[in-house]
Amino acid sequence: MSSNSLRDLDRALLHPYTNLRKHEQTGPLVAVRGEGVRIFDDAGRSYIDAMAGLWCASLGFSQARLGEAAKRQMSQLGFYHQFTHKSHDKGIELAAKLLELAPAGTAMSRVFFANSGSEANDTALKLIWYYNNALGRPGKKKVVARRQAYHGVTLASASLTALPANHRDFDLPLDLGRFLHITCPQAYHHALPGEDDAAFVKRLAAEFEALIETEGADTIAAFFAEPVMGAGGVIVPPDGYLPRMQEICRRHDILMVADEVICGFFRTGQRWGSETLDFQPDMLVCAKALSAGFLPISALMISDKIYQVLADNSAKIGTFGHGYTYSGHPVSAAVALEALALYDELDIKGQVARTAPVMQKHLCQLAAHPLVGEARGIGLIGALELVEDKASRKNFDPARGMAAKVVEAMQRNGVIGRAMINDSLAFSPPLVIGEGELDEVFGVVRVALDEVASAL
Ligand SMILES: Cc1ncc(COP(=O)(O)O)c(C=O)c1O
Repeated sequence: MSSNSLRDLDRALLHPYTNLRKHEQTGPLVAVRGEGVRIFDDAGRSYIDAMAGLWCASLGFSQARLGEAAKRQMSQLGFYHQFTHKSHDKGIELAAKLLELAPAGTAMSRVFFANSGSEANDTALKLIWYYNNALGRPGKKKVVARRQAYHGVTLASASLTALPANHRDFDLPLDLGRFLHITCPQAYHHALPGEDDAAFVKRLAAEFEALIETEGADTIAAFFAEPVMGAGGVIVPPDGYLPRMQEICRRHDILMVADEVICGFFRTGQRWGSETLDFQPDMLVCAKALSAGFLPISALMISDKIYQVLADNSAKIGTFGHGYTYSGHPVSAAVALEALALYDELDIKGQVARTAPVMQKHLCQLAAHPLVGEARGIGLIGALELVEDKASRKNFDPARGMAAKVVEAMQRNGVIGRAMINDSLAFSPPLVIGEGELDEVFGVVRVALDEVASAL
């Protein structure tokens, strides 16, 4: 189809995360092909996508092995499900593989499949409520997340999410009195003057303890945490923060859910973000890189302690009344199994160990740029936060869209990035990106920052 017809027909779409009126004027970037870390648009222009699409295309944008796995599975068994005592080989193999790969010390014993991170987080929450009802604790239902957390956009997961754009005019968070939010663990903005990381962690822990005290431990069911917060601006918590939060959860019989939708599968260096950040969740949610982003699939792992309660309750009720038509879809499962095999064969962990220092060095160097207040990151995820005043750490007025301007300039120069809250420019390239490609990305970032700075 011609470029013009594609642009005209794009009017058929309601675009996610888009200023819809602006889009009517600007139109889309229409991707038509991918090769390695690059995508090509309908005019043949190439771009390195420094966000791996939506933090997901871990193996780049075309991978013949994943296509072959999908084709084989479609010819063999294009659909089957896991409802009502049915199962299928690829779903079984993927669940077993995930349990084998589960973080050490977590005692995960069952895997539930869904299609997106949002659905998996919704499921986690439903299971937590079901679990506490089963235990005869109907009052223990509140859930705690952090401000700037991102856990998805379905009604429940968007209520856990704490970013203004996901709530405003959607009547969210749900008004159940069950969603509580505590301070985002970003020292740059939230540590007090002179407070070091250890003191900051101590204060965040005290805030959590105080909330538990006020609300009552018998009302709080779970704490949800991304190991590294992604859409909230790539916030790497200070050392010791998540272990400390875990210790508090355990003491008060509060379940800890690791939302590994972005962090899972080597994004932070280890296979799981919870390994890098040193905690052992009771539930773990993963998606995105589980299938290298090539097909929709997400997974929720639960510990045996939780499973045993759910199993008894389902026997009492007569069924476990939850599941999606496409839970554990065999084609998605086959592609996920192939992606997991590729991670090992390509030694993605070793690759990230080599390239992460290169990316982090580029970020650190850009911290000296006049527009950049903070450079942060770990593994192959990071951000540059733009500020109006470095000394006071004051952000620009959001209406000026400073980070969006930098992203536009980057795109004109062949690199796709993403502007997040507080003018944070996020970076989460495909894990297969090479050192030369990283140099290219950050060369363009510098040009874009200079362009925006000189227009001030
Ligand atoms: C940490 C985290 N959780 C959940 C989600 C929601 O996933 P999905 O968009 O697949 O529903 C995302 C999406 O970016 C995410 O980053």
